[in-house]
Amino acid sequence: KQETLALPVGVTLDRFIKRQQSAMPFASGELSQLLRDIALAGKIINREINRAGLVDITGAFGSQNVQGEEQQKLDVVADIRFLRALKNGGEVCAVITEEEDEIIYTDNDEGKYVVAIDPLDGSSNIDVNVSIGTIFSVYRRVTPVGTRATLEDFMQGGRSQVAAGYILYGSSTILVYTTGQGVNAFTYENSLGEFFLSHNEIKSPETGSIYSANEGNYNDFVSGARAYIVNCRMKEYAARYIGSLVADFHRNLLKGGIYLYPPSKKYPKGKLRLLYECYPLAFLAEQAGASSTDGYQNILDIEPQELHQRSPFYVGAKEMVSDLLLYF
Ligand code: AHG
Ligand code: MN
Ligand code: MN
Ligand code: MN
Repeated sequence: KQETLALPVGVTLDRFIKRQQSAMPFASGELSQLLRDIALAGKIINREINRAGLVDITGAFGSQNVQGEEQQKLDVVADIRFLRALKNGGEVCAVITEEEDEIIYTDNDEGKYVVAIDPLDGSSNIDVNVSIGTIFSVYRRVTPVGTRATLEDFMQGGRSQVAAGYILYGSSTILVYTTGQGVNAFTYENSLGEFFLSHNEIKSPETGSIYSANEGNYNDFVSGARAYIVNCRMKEYAARYIGSLVADFHRNLLKGGIYLYPPSKKYPKGKLRLLYECYPLAFLAEQAGASSTDGYQNILDIEPQELHQRSPFYVGAKEMVSDLLLYF
C-alpha cells in the first residue's frame, strides 16, 4: 500500500497530483495531466452553471439567449465542454458520454486513456437551483497506442478503472477522486480559480441512519428493496433524496447512509448507467471503506456488455449494504 499522502489540508490540487505522481515510480505523468484536464473542465462547467441560471432568466422570454445563441440545455453544454477539454488535453483517445450514443474519438490515437463520463448528473435540478454534478471514470486503453480505440477499451469492467471521481456543483464546488490510493476531496475557491485539498483520505462511516430513494416508485420496487425501506422506516432513519445522484452520494459518503435505485416499472434494469454512474461511484465507495451492489454482486464485478447499460444500484455504508442484502 502506498504510504498515505498526509499532505496538509489547503494544498492545491496541482501540488497534490504532483505529490501523488512522485509516489508512483512508474507514473509518467499522463494520468496526472488527464486529472488536470478534468479539473479544468469542471471549473468551466461551474461557471456555465452559475451563468446558466442568469441566462435562463433573460432567455426565458424567447428561445434565443442574451447572446443571440440558440439556448442549449446544460447537459449538452457540459458534454461539449468536457469533450473539448479532453480533446485539447491530448491524454485521452476516446470518450463515451451519457449525451452521445456512440464512442467519441478525440483524434489523439496516441492517448493512453479512455474516459466514460456523465457530464451533468441530476440535470433536471438545474432550473430549480439544486446541486448537480459530473461523474467520470478512467481506464488505460487495452488496444495498441496509435490505433483507433474500440468498444473493447470501454468493456474492461469496473475493477479495471485507474481513476474515478465526481465534481459536485453545490453550495460550494468540490472535486472528489481516487486513483486507487484512497479518496481525496478538493474544494474550489472561485476568487483564485483553484481547487484546495479540503478532505484528506475520506473514510465513510461503517454505518449510518440516512437512506436515499425515490419512494414515489416504492410500489414498483423489488421486494428486497421494499423490505429494506420498511426496515429503515421502523428504525426511524432520515429519508434524504435530492434527486441528484452525486449530491445524495456525497452526503452519504461523509455522513454515512445508503442510496437505492432499484429496478422499477419504468426502468426494469434500474435507471442508472453502469459505465459512468455506477462503476465510478462504486470504485470511490470501495476506496472510502463503503460498498455497493446490484442486489446480487458487487457493482465492480458486473460484466459490462454495452456502453449505456443500466443497473440496479445500491451504494453506501458497509453495514447498511450488508443489511440490505439480508432481504435479497
Ligand atoms: P442524469 O441527470 O445524469 O440523467 O442522472 C439523473 C439520475 C440521478 O442523478 C438521480 O439520482 C436520478 O436520476 C433521479 O431519478 P428519479 O428522478 O427517477 O428519482
Ligand atoms: Mn446521471
Ligand atoms: Mn447526466
Ligand atoms: Mn440524463
